[in-house]
Amino acid sequence: MSAETEYKKVTTNTLQKMKAAGEKISMITAYDYSFAKLFDAAGIDVILVGDSASNVMAGHATTLPITLDQMIYHAQSVVRARERCLVVVDLPFGSYQSNSDIALASAIRIMKESGAHTVKLEGGEEIIDSVKKIVSAGIPVMGHLGLTPQSINKFGSYVVRATEDTEAEKLKKDALILQEAGCFGIVLEKIPAILAKEVSESLHIPTIGIGAGGDCDGQVLVMHDMLGINTEFKPRFLRRYLNLDEQITGAIKQYVSDIKTKDFPNENEQY
Ligand code: KIV
Repeated sequence: MSAETEYKKVTTNTLQKMKAAGEKISMITAYDYSFAKLFDAAGIDVILVGDSASNVMAGHATTLPITLDQMIYHAQSVVRARERCLVVVDLPFGSYQSNSDIALASAIRIMKESGAHTVKLEGGEEIIDSVKKIVSAGIPVMGHLGLTPQSINKFGSYVVRATEDTEAEKLKKDALILQEAGCFGIVLEKIPAILAKEVSESLHIPTIGIGAGGDCDGQVLVMHDMLGINTEFKPRFLRRYLNLDEQITGAIKQYVSDIKTKDFPNENEQY
């Protein structure tokens, strides 16, 4: 039986059961009510209100500028649409790195003001005190390792991470530390598939991959990339399910033309 029929509402416990049963977890980003409603009704297990909103919604080059208030606004819109899926919200850059009290205060704001179910933080050992503090306040935390876009200025590029032994060893250790600290799952972004497999097999909590191969316990994609709204981003890991860029451009061109030629509105489209 698939999760869609078996689980009425997806919780963090559902995800643990899915991993144990070998059922893959589906996750996608969303930032607004209308798309979240479509994704939830289509049976997605998890919606991530990602700080990728900074790129795809606001047009920034990185995820760094988005604020906690802006993340809460996006999360509120998504939560209003939710019937079944689990909603995970990114803690934005600057809202948790300085100390664990600030991290907890940020997580509490997201939970209280948006009604979301969980938060996600980027990093391993460096942020473990914050993870523990948030978890001990009763807020489920998802980790995020590998390519962590909030650290782009440290990395210098968006290339595949943990290809060298030292970084791979640190990632494996970080994954175990995050699990021990109480994380209910971990996103693994843009790392070798063989490493993601090893990490996934070493954990009892699920891993959700993006550019991390098919052996993760689930997969996540950014909605604008997989729907073909954003066509400039073409990494190898991306599967495009629609070409909305072409379809929307075509529709708008037709609309403009119909107005200019006085074809729209016609007699049946007026009162
Ligand atoms: O912000 C985001 O969309 C993410 C995904 C890429 C996992 O963190």
